[in-house]
Amino acid sequence: MGKPDKKQLKLELQQRLAKSAAPAPAATPAAATPAATANSGSKRPVGKKAALKQQLKERLDKSAAAAAAPPPKELKKTAGKKAGKKQSPAPQAAASRSAAAPKKHAAKQKQVAALAKETAVELTKLQAAMQKKLDGAQFRYLNEKLYTMPGTEALQMMQEKPELFELYHTGFRAQAESWPMNPVDRIISEIKEHIKLPATIADLGCGNAMVAQELAPLGYTVRSFDLVAKPPLVEAADMANVPLEDGACDVVVFSLSLMNTNWGVGAAEGARILRKGGIMKIAEVVSRIDDVDAFISALEQIGMSVMTKDTSNPMFIMLTLRKKALKVNKDAAARFQPLKPCIYKRR
Ligand SMILES: C[S@@+](CC[C@H](N)C(=O)[O-])C[C@H]1O[C@@H](n2cnc3c(N)ncnc32)[C@H](O)[C@@H]1O
Repeated sequence: MGKPDKKQLKLELQQRLAKSAAPAPAATPAAATPAATANSGSKRPVGKKAALKQQLKERLDKSAAAAAAPPPKELKKTAGKKAGKKQSPAPQAAASRSAAAPKKHAAKQKQVAALAKETAVELTKLQAAMQKKLDGAQFRYLNEKLYTMPGTEALQMMQEKPELFELYHTGFRAQAESWPMNPVDRIISEIKEHIKLPATIADLGCGNAMVAQELAPLGYTVRSFDLVAKPPLVEAADMANVPLEDGACDVVVFSLSLMNTNWGVGAAEGARILRKGGIMKIAEVVSRIDDVDAFISALEQIGMSVMTKDTSNPMFIMLTLRKKALKVNKDAAARFQPLKPCIYKRR
């Protein structure tokens, strides 16, 4: 095997370099490749130099192929816009395109990531809205239940699944936030104003025990009852059966809590635990009471007399009553017709 001619090799390399700078043909049959042409001579390069030559050839072929390869779609578009469509890709343009490709790719990846993030945020918002709707629907369902069952059943339902109580109160709080006034606040300020210390107050159907939270720090003794106990403030009891002695209280509060079908028995129990001359505060939703006078007359049958009646608020009726006799007529209360359920709006 003869040694390759150095001059000839150099010449060949120069030619190939010149060719690689020009656009490569779309498809080059193997026999027509520069290597094939170079190797078609009688002398076939072997050894170290031949290996080097082969490597060089491969590199040249690769860079020619890269220059001829169609650019990625995006690059094609921008290149078309900037340079005009008819212009054939210049070698420098091709080189800068292949240099710009990773940058473009990174930018696109960034775009995709931003889009994914946006979509995730949208999805979370949607999920939150759906959860809110679901909570609202569950609240309305529970609310209707409490209005259409007697207190014993309400107590059993909540005792079996105390999480329903949380759910109910989450929904109730959401409703109350939209009211121009919350009746429990009015009751609290009236007690502050008119009831002297020391005094014992029973809050029947207390919810989150606002009365105790506001008035106990001022020195009032407050006993708060609801369907689920929440120590340290709330004790569990059906308002129709409260664990307090006859006449133990100076004030009894029913703030939106005469809910059950046997509301009259709850009201009579409130009268039982009041001392003679004690005060009963009632707030109810206007739409539940068709006939205010009939409602008041029912309360009088259980031994109460009305002191003040405020029907000025379009949403709530506010009553203050005094216990006039020691004897409370629970039998009469058991025959009272249920008040209408309060239907809260969807939010
Ligand atoms: C509409 S919420 C009002 C809560 C609170 N009084 C207020 O004004 O914010 C009515 C409350 O009465 C309670 N309740 C309904 N029936 C009851 C019963 N038989 N005994 C005790 N609580 C009852 C409910 O569990 C609920 O907490």
